Amino acid sequence: MGFSLVGSKTKTRGGRWEMIIRRVVEVVILANITIDGRGVEGLGVNWGTQATHKLPAKTVVEMLKENGIQKVKLFDTADSTMSALAGSGIEVMVAIPNDQLSSLTSFSRAEDWVKRNLTRYNFDGGVNIKYVAVGNEPFLSSYNGSFLNVTLPALQNIQRALNKAGVGDSIKATVPLNADVYNSPENNPVPSAGRFRTDISELMTQIVQFLNENKAPFTVNIYPFLSLYGNDNFPFDYAFFDGVSSPILDPATGIQYSNVFDANFDTLVAALRAAGYGDMTILVGEVGWPTDGDKNANTGNAYRFYNGLLQRLASNKGTPLRPGYIEVYLFGLIDEDAKSIAPGNFERHWGIFRYDGQPKFAMDLSGQGQNKLLVGAKNVEYLPNQWCMFNPNAKDLSKLADNINYACTFSDCTALGYGSSCNNLDANGNVSYAFNMYFQVQNQDERACNFQGLATLTTQNISQGNCNFIVQIKSSSAFSLRPSLIGLVFLTLLFASGARDFLTPL
Ligand SMILES: *[C@@H]1O[C@H](CO)[C@@H](O)[C@H](O)[C@H]1NC(C)=O
Ligand SMILES: *[C@@H]1O[C@H](CO)[C@@H](O)[C@H](O)[C@H]1NC(C)=O
Ligand SMILES: *[C@@H]1O[C@H](CO)[C@@H](O)[C@H](O)[C@H]1NC(C)=O
Ligand SMILES: *[C@@H]1O[C@H](CO)[C@@H](O)[C@H](O)[C@H]1NC(C)=O
Ligand SMILES: *[C@@H]1O[C@H](CO)[C@@H](O)[C@H](O)[C@H]1NC(C)=O
Repeated sequence: MGFSLVGSKTKTRGGRWEMIIRRVVEVVILANITIDGRGVEGLGVNWGTQATHKLPAKTVVEMLKENGIQKVKLFDTADSTMSALAGSGIEVMVAIPNDQLSSLTSFSRAEDWVKRNLTRYNFDGGVNIKYVAVGNEPFLSSYNGSFLNVTLPALQNIQRALNKAGVGDSIKATVPLNADVYNSPENNPVPSAGRFRTDISELMTQIVQFLNENKAPFTVNIYPFLSLYGNDNFPFDYAFFDGVSSPILDPATGIQYSNVFDANFDTLVAALRAAGYGDMTILVGEVGWPTDGDKNANTGNAYRFYNGLLQRLASNKGTPLRPGYIEVYLFGLIDEDAKSIAPGNFERHWGIFRYDGQPKFAMDLSGQGQNKLLVGAKNVEYLPNQWCMFNPNAKDLSKLADNINYACTFSDCTALGYGSSCNNLDANGNVSYAFNMYFQVQNQDERACNFQGLATLTTQNISQGNCNFIVQIKSSSAFSLRPSLIGLVFLTLLFASGARDFLTPL
């Protein structure tokens, strides 16, 4: 999902935080958050599906229900997902990917989209659609302005098409935006000085105006993890909710900030006020913590983050500038092993559930801070208990590097990286891990455990310590990143690397 590319922005932000901290002399011990015992009302989760092996959508919907999750945010309107959600009563935010925005600058195309992807499911006993997300973080700086001209027209056309179809009162179009659409000036880096980013401030004002006319919410994604990522100067405890020794003072309001979530959210509140829409409903489209792929991405930190966040949400305390209930969608539901790792290796590990729908750490969605696990997916079907490993008798190791490279190109080796769960394996363990990930992605096809004689099958669980050598689930859906179907990508890679040896495996 998006977030990602806030990298540069969060770095600046960290630098600013440091400056502020230095200015704060007073040390205030924060009172503990009090909980009123109501539980987190209407908590939502993001359900992304960029995985090589997806759980059946029905299984996921059952899991949502078992855990009392009443809202989901999707990234498309895939029929399998929508059909599984039909009749569940779960509130749904459907989405239009960025690459479809330009076509929706035509009103008739927008009408067509609403007909084909929305009204079709929106009937009594069908899918309970509440929002349409128009694009996903379309104004990230890293998109080089590609979606600046098309997002507002698409938003307008979709809402107008919803209105024309007679569902505009109950279904609102919104644009999930990254927190990098607003900031405070370098020389006054406090939440109350928040403004929309200078290069898009006029556009943001028009968007906010349109949302306001249609009583639609502003949707923002906030990632304290990314404030920490790649920024060792960021004060660690500010990423969480359990208090810090030196809260940060906003002199204009006299408010002390003890976590970056509040500070970030209130920067948006200030930006909306400055634009003249201080009361606009704000919905947090994504917030969460990954569990692998970075030194700060682990179950301990994820537990700490969610434990604080959920107690906070259950208390309906809100933020200093916006007390009260906040509608929030956690990111995300299940790990996605086929996501782009351009933003970082942690990308594939955002799930509160593992790839197989099993919980990773204790999490109490009622916000009571009870130390209990979520209910995992039921009746999950796994492939047989077998693994692919490095063949210790292999003689010719000259092709080893090429084969590891191949295995990791077409599977997920992100757990091998620095600070990750499998970073402590020895050299043989590394090779086995890569070979096994590829073998599992290939549904344990025996031909996928050869690697020019460097690999062999085993029925022994070769997991080591925290590093789990997985057995994949039986996939309900063929994934498209399979060598047989990726000829083009594959050839491009071959030519790019000149690695002719890649041709032999499989
Ligand atoms: C909308 O529906 C059409 C036709 O079923 C499909 O091709 C398209 O991908 C859908 N759009 C989204 C955003 O899911
Ligand atoms: C944005 O521009 C940079 C530098 O010119 C380029 O490397 C990158 O691929 C561009 N990104 C997109 C999404 O166009
Ligand atoms: C957006 O519109 C402006 C003004 O019409 C134009 O100069 C710019 O090239 C457009 N940008 C893109 C990415 O199409
Ligand atoms: C295993 O692989 C990781 C990640 O590629 C690397 O950092 C580590 O040094 C390797 N370990 C050995 C013993 O080769
Ligand atoms: C293999 O062992 C690991 C670590 O002990 C364990 O977590 C995992 O469940 C085992 N896998 C299977 C398929 O039994």
